[in-house]
Amino acid sequence: MPEPLLEVKDLRVHFPTEDGIVKAVDGVSFAIQPGETLGVVGESGSGKSVSFLTVMGLINRKSAIVEGEVLFQGQDLLNVPKEELQAIRGNKIGMIFQDPMTSLHPFYKVGDQIAETILAHEDISKKEAGARAVDMLKRVGIPRPDERARQYPHEFSGGMRQRAMIAMALSLNPDLLIADEPTTALDVTVQAQILDLIDRLQSEFNTAVALITHDLGVVAEHCDYIQVMYAGRLVEVGTADDIYYRPMMPYTWGLLKSIPLLTAQEDRLHPIRGLPPSLIHVPEGCPFNPRCPYVFDRCHVEVPQLLPVDGFHAAACHLSLDDRKRIVQEEVLQRT
Ligand SMILES: Nc1ncnc2c1ncn2[C@@H]1O[C@H](COP(=O)(O)OP(=O)(O)O)[C@@H](O)[C@H]1O
Ligand SMILES: [Mg+2]
Repeated sequence: MPEPLLEVKDLRVHFPTEDGIVKAVDGVSFAIQPGETLGVVGESGSGKSVSFLTVMGLINRKSAIVEGEVLFQGQDLLNVPKEELQAIRGNKIGMIFQDPMTSLHPFYKVGDQIAETILAHEDISKKEAGARAVDMLKRVGIPRPDERARQYPHEFSGGMRQRAMIAMALSLNPDLLIADEPTTALDVTVQAQILDLIDRLQSEFNTAVALITHDLGVVAEHCDYIQVMYAGRLVEVGTADDIYYRPMMPYTWGLLKSIPLLTAQEDRLHPIRGLPPSLIHVPEGCPFNPRCPYVFDRCHVEVPQLLPVDGFHAAACHLSLDDRKRIVQEEVLQRT
């Protein structure tokens, strides 16, 4: 194994609040290799964004208790000085969000904003930076990039703004792109175009990508590996095929059954019953136990650990592996 680009070890992010401690991330470990795409999936409120905001150093350490290690190219980002972190952010790690307006300033021309980003990190002339900005807009598929560079974000459609944000994030050729629900606000066609764009740029620039989404349907064809988060923890990790064809825990089964497949009829979609738990009062034992159709006594008392299933594939569940394999065949995959 080469040295991972990013290695997160036993990350915990707890927010003390008036109502109690919000355990947003509670002992998460994973790694991303150079050029690899990792999908991070889980319902809203499972700790996906907080995990990666912490990686980026964007969690206010005064309001959160942060423990663990975030090793990026071997350096622990939780312990680097602020200025150094700012240099890494943007330059080596790029970010895109659901709402492009968190990255794009409404009052400045799109081309100028991208050029400014480049100028903040590279010692080149304004003119060169401007030309690079136009080139990036072209690469992300924005027609008439010369003209577009001179426009303001509000003159762009949602999909075009998303492309502009990707252009800005990739303008410094980062080693890692963190994409947090980048397509959630877009309609299905534009969503597919943006994901294809990320795919293409990823292979062109060999950028590693962390693709965060609440929609398991989105990550299937775009990710090498997938990790499933529930209540601030990883409950299953594996290759995209492991997660789609051999999922080994009931929460993942629930996610799979709740997404439309090409062959499935609408009436065969089953949302997961109940709601995600409060991260202040996480249930004793397995955090998924109040919603799990297969719950038994042990699930109420013991937290299941993420245990290897096969190769890199691992899942956290007290059911025996044989039982789970049978359930997957008989109840989960039968509709495909
Ligand atoms: N600054 C904060 N203070 C208190 N709780 C927070 C803060 N930021 C996030 N949370 C809580 O952490 C949990 C995980 O949030 P988040 O990572 O945004 O979930 P996801 O991205 O999976 O939807 C949520 O319950 C959220 O309310
Ligand atoms: Mg989020």
